[in-house]
Amino acid sequence: MHVVLSIGGSAINPKGEPDLDFLRAMAQIIKKSKNNFGILTGGGSMARVYAKAARELGASEYEADSIAITSTRQNAQLLIAALRGAGLKTHNRIITDFEEAKEPAVENKVVVMGGTIPGITTDTDAVLLAEAIGAKRLVNISNVDAIYDTDPRKNPKARKYAKMSYDELNKLAAESDKRTAGTHFVFDMLACKLIARSKIETHFVSGKNKKDIENAIEGKGHNGTIVK
Ligand code: UTP
Repeated sequence: MHVVLSIGGSAINPKGEPDLDFLRAMAQIIKKSKNNFGILTGGGSMARVYAKAARELGASEYEADSIAITSTRQNAQLLIAALRGAGLKTHNRIITDFEEAKEPAVENKVVVMGGTIPGITTDTDAVLLAEAIGAKRLVNISNVDAIYDTDPRKNPKARKYAKMSYDELNKLAAESDKRTAGTHFVFDMLACKLIARSKIETHFVSGKNKKDIENAIEGKGHNGTIVK
């Protein structure tokens, strides 16, 4: 069975430098699991810094996104290096669209991609990859440990969801989208809609909790949120 992992740039590169222990740990988790994987890596702060610099130099939004996509692909290459370091066979070329991902997904235990086209985020890419390779489970790994009813960084009384339906997630994502700029919902709205249309069971866990990541991959319970 294929499981898709959406690994946020915030988990790969939390403090301006790639977290090698995290990358090595992910490679071991993947190696140990009986599943096959599709992986989408985010760009995190590196993507944002480069997109901002490009905009300040007069680049268009399209160009700023293209630069940010390069950061997501850099993280994909780092993960590929970690997987090889763990003795796993992977594809050589950087995969840039979902059709291209289908064959290596069958030939290898893991297929890794970064972003694809300007205007979307790697949340959406991850769901599209899941649809393309027929994965019915997706694990979102980031610096946010679960879905909350309000932003837990701003509201200490925020309530964590252990489980929620696709409709509940979509409602929450839409409400959050209406709030002021800078509010950043855990999963973007298009991605929320796509998991609902294809009934992809989606787990939200923290990159800091390896046991939670392993449980989510196997479809078991954990300290994050399960949407189904
Ligand atoms: P991310 O998906 O990493 O953005 O893509 P994010 O949600 O801000 O990151 P995390 O979850 O906190 O790590 C980084 C940026 O790359 C561009 C967008 O500008 C996005 O904000 N991007 C990414 C695209 O334009 N297309 C893609 O397919 C992916």
